[in-house]
Amino acid sequence: MQDPVFVRNAFRDIAGRYVLTNHVLSLGIDVLWRNKVAKMVASRDPKRVLDIATGSGDLAETIREKCPDAHVVGGDFCQPMMAHARKRGLPDLIVADGMNLPFADGAFDAVTVGFGLRNMASYPDAAAEMARVLAPGGKLYVLDFSLPRFAPLRAAYRFYLHKIMPAIGGVITGKRGAYDYLSGSIEKFPSGQEMVGLLTENGFRVARGEQLSFGIAAIYDAEK
Ligand SMILES: C[S@@+](CC[C@H](N)C(=O)[O-])C[C@H]1O[C@@H](n2cnc3c(N)ncnc32)[C@H](O)[C@@H]1O
Repeated sequence: MQDPVFVRNAFRDIAGRYVLTNHVLSLGIDVLWRNKVAKMVASRDPKRVLDIATGSGDLAETIREKCPDAHVVGGDFCQPMMAHARKRGLPDLIVADGMNLPFADGAFDAVTVGFGLRNMASYPDAAAEMARVLAPGGKLYVLDFSLPRFAPLRAAYRFYLHKIMPAIGGVITGKRGAYDYLSGSIEKFPSGQEMVGLLTENGFRVARGEQLSFGIAAIYDAEK
């Protein structure tokens, strides 16, 4: 549950260095996570895909590579982030707020959201809105950070999140506050059964989650 004005401004301020900072902070593992989501999407051969909170278009581009026959639309509410998606040559980009999507009911076979739901003003309302634009039987894929369950690893990861990541992100982008926000948002974001419950209570018939990289990230897929 985040303040949309703060979130939009934070991404506007780091847009120029977002991709670089991501790869540095995750040591490139974020690329593998997006690949995994794209393979899951491709396994169902969707024809119409929405990547909401597409930002610089990293996930949308990976999905286009894995689903060459699909029409992939990228939507985001921060234009400076989408300027980078445009530079990649993503053909179908639209300014769109995940809380109020400018699409008809049932317009997509798959919706993806990578590191985006965590930034939205209401997780239940955003999930319900994503369900609305999915056709019956369509799938939502949520990729986001999580906290490892194994206590020693969790403690080490928290140290990284609160001390190291904001320092490095601050040096690369000059906007340490955006990375302090990131750490805080990861702490508050529902994971595991809590996220599965959130999805099944807000428009999805079934949902399941899978931990990635010892639980520092997770993928949830949910069927309408
Ligand atoms: C961390 S970036 C993720 C970008 C990309 N999906 C990726 O995998 O790297 C989060 C993006 O979510 C967008 N965002 C946050 N809240 C949003 C909302 N309510 N509607 C649309 N986009 C939103 C931000 O503008 C930002 O571009």
